[in-house]
Amino acid sequence: MKQPFIAPLSTTDGDLTIRIYRLEDAAALAAGTNASYEHLRPWMPWATETMTEIDAEVLIRRFIAGYFGNTDFTMGIWRDDQFLGGTGFHLRGRSLDASVGEIGMWIRQDCAGQGLGQQALRLMLKWGFEEWGWERIFWQCDARNAASAKVALNCGLLYEGTLRSDDLTVDGNRRDTQYYAMLRSEYSR
Ligand SMILES: CC(C)(COP(=O)(O)OP(=O)(O)OC[C@H]1O[C@@H](n2cnc3c(N)ncnc32)[C@H](O)[C@@H]1OP(=O)(O)O)[C@@H](O)C(=O)NCCC(=O)NCCS
Repeated sequence: MKQPFIAPLSTTDGDLTIRIYRLEDAAALAAGTNASYEHLRPWMPWATETMTEIDAEVLIRRFIAGYFGNTDFTMGIWRDDQFLGGTGFHLRGRSLDASVGEIGMWIRQDCAGQGLGQQALRLMLKWGFEEWGWERIFWQCDARNAASAKVALNCGLLYEGTLRSDDLTVDGNRRDTQYYAMLRSEYSR
């Protein structure tokens, strides 16, 4: 009989921990999101500078429901007690059985550009292939998001192509989307 999928809850690399959100993370999530508004706005449609602690708790409740329901796995990135940003494995409409996960990521504005995104992505790839059992892990970004593309390439994902006129930007303009991915066989090589 097929075993039920029990999602891993956290992983650590040195002082960096990636883990499922807890209700008590609401204040840190709200503060980190609001303080990063200018940095997130061009790329993340959900960016806001007015998230309250209650808003954050509602979001976290939704994240936890998705996580334990095996429909979406959203996590926070922490250094000790400092909240650094968010990441996750996202099914994007696929069945969990397909074993394909998209890694999304944002790093707080005051922590960006210090190598954290790459450290977090390397840890997600290791965790994803070694414990989660993904067969394919992919990363997508607005074709103009040079930092995001660099992080993917530096961590060994392959550029697979660009979907033209694939989505809208927050300003309502059309954007192209680049795809990067790593397969399990490429991770083990
Ligand atoms: C994209 C993001 C997750 C990267 O995290 P980070 O901690 O800033 O990334 P790192 O410091 O590990 O690495 C950034 C790399 O991009 C490069 N980079 C940064 N800005 C760049 C730019 N405008 N053009 C080209 N390269 C750039 C850096 O030089 C570095 O590469 P290097 O190590 O080869 O020098 C983070 O900046 C972020 O949260 N951005 C806003 C939200 C977002 O775009 N998320 C991704 C959506 S797909």
